[in-house]
Amino acid sequence: MNKVVLITGGSSGIGKSIGEFLHHKGFVVYGTSRNPERILNSVFPLIALDVRNVDSIHSAVAKVIAISGRLDVVINNAGVGITGPLEEIPMSEIKNNFEINFFGPIEVMKAVLPQMREQHSGLIINITSIA
Ligand SMILES: NC(=O)c1ccc[n+]([C@@H]2O[C@H](COP(=O)([O-])OP(=O)(O)OC[C@H]3O[C@@H](n4cnc5c(N)ncnc54)[C@H](OP(=O)(O)O)[C@@H]3O)[C@@H](O)[C@H]2O)c1
Repeated sequence: MNKVVLITGGSSGIGKSIGEFLHHKGFVVYGTSRNPERILNSVFPLIALDVRNVDSIHSAVAKVIAISGRLDVVINNAGVGITGPLEEIPMSEIKNNFEINFFGPIEVMKAVLPQMREQHSGLIINITSIA
């Protein structure tokens, strides 16, 4: 049976590359984007998800399980970066960064663990920034 993989942030960069690689290896891949309708060239389906919105996380996870019946691998990849001198970066941007890069992946893990516990199997891979 081909494993079912959910990658947050599958519309560009590392998430898109991982998704394409796994898709060509035969995995059943779902990616996410805040605006999936804008991405026209994805080789795997993209589901709407914003890691700052818990409802959208639960809705995306439920969609994958409804279609595929299971969820074997979750890759917490969605993330954003900030560069520049600290004193010039607004606190709102720093807090937003933590919402996306830190609290968001925790919400994703909380959303998928019940399914993985029910299956008695599952793998969660967290992609983070060194920063
Ligand atoms: N590139 C590097 O050198 C590097 C180095 C170390 C670690 N990383 C980590 O690797 C991961 C991917 O980086 P990347 O360079 O591939 O970035 P990227 O090309 O900018 O892609 C970021 C992905 O995250 C999604 N995303 C952004 N904000 C989101 C939100 N609020 N909710 C859900 N999805 C969101 C984007 O999707 P939409 O815009 O379509 O929603 C996009 O698919 C990040 O976690 C980053 O910290 C990257």
